[in-house]
Amino acid sequence: MTLAPLTVSDTAPAAGAAPLFGANLSASLIEDLAARGWAHARGALEPDLARALRAEALAMAADGALAEARIGRGEAERRDRAVRRTAIAWMDGRTPAQRAFLDGCEAMRTAINRALFAGLFEFEAHYAVYPPGGFYARHLDAFAPPPVAAGPNAVMGRTAARSRVVSMVVYLNEGWTPDDGGELAVWEHFTRAPDGRADLRALDGVPPAGVIAPEMGSVVLMLSEAIPHEVRPAAATRCAIAGWWRVNASIGGVVDPAR
Ligand code: OGA
Ligand code: MN
Repeated sequence: MTLAPLTVSDTAPAAGAAPLFGANLSASLIEDLAARGWAHARGALEPDLARALRAEALAMAADGALAEARIGRGEAERRDRAVRRTAIAWMDGRTPAQRAFLDGCEAMRTAINRALFAGLFEFEAHYAVYPPGGFYARHLDAFAPPPVAAGPNAVMGRTAARSRVVSMVVYLNEGWTPDDGGELAVWEHFTRAPDGRADLRALDGVPPAGVIAPEMGSVVLMLSEAIPHEVRPAAATRCAIAGWWRVNASIGGVVDPAR
């Protein structure tokens, strides 16, 4: 299998780059992430940066520069409008706003690693613009497989599945109201079916641990393998950036050495 190209390599941020969030806010987000698997803060993103990112997302949407989002990778990748309806564009640092954002995420990566010894290695992020009616059904961002027997697929399975570790969503919606819907719902627990797969249907009717409005500048962090979440149908155009810090699953096609 091949992994999608990564947008940011393991390099230091540009000299003088501002961290994405202030030191106190970063610390409290990381503390919540460690304690319960997710964290949320309103007004977290610096307002000028949030406005610049929002303008860029909307301009790309207007220019037809966003692609319908897919699910999964490689062979398993498919469009599935029953699960997800949104349009995305990967960030590559092509504008000052993207560079400021990605540099700030790099500072966040080192902060998370310092606090949690997480070994986060790289980051990827995309704009996501949900049209009215857009949503994303309950899912996990990464799949920690149950323990597997030794064998040729064991290492590949584990490393690929391990690659997304911390998820982040930042919201870019000015004047969002409760009538606009589009909330992120998060659950802190899930159960597994006998075959080891996460059984997210079992959460039907279970109240979420958090319901978050996608308000301008709000941020959510989640442990990618541990926190089921869904985007409820949005009644208005809903802009966000979704990003993931990954561990070093493979480099240049060479799989991590076995531990
Ligand atoms: C995702 C996702 C949540 C949101 O892109 O994987 O879960 O609130 N996004 O946009
Ligand atoms: Mn997700």
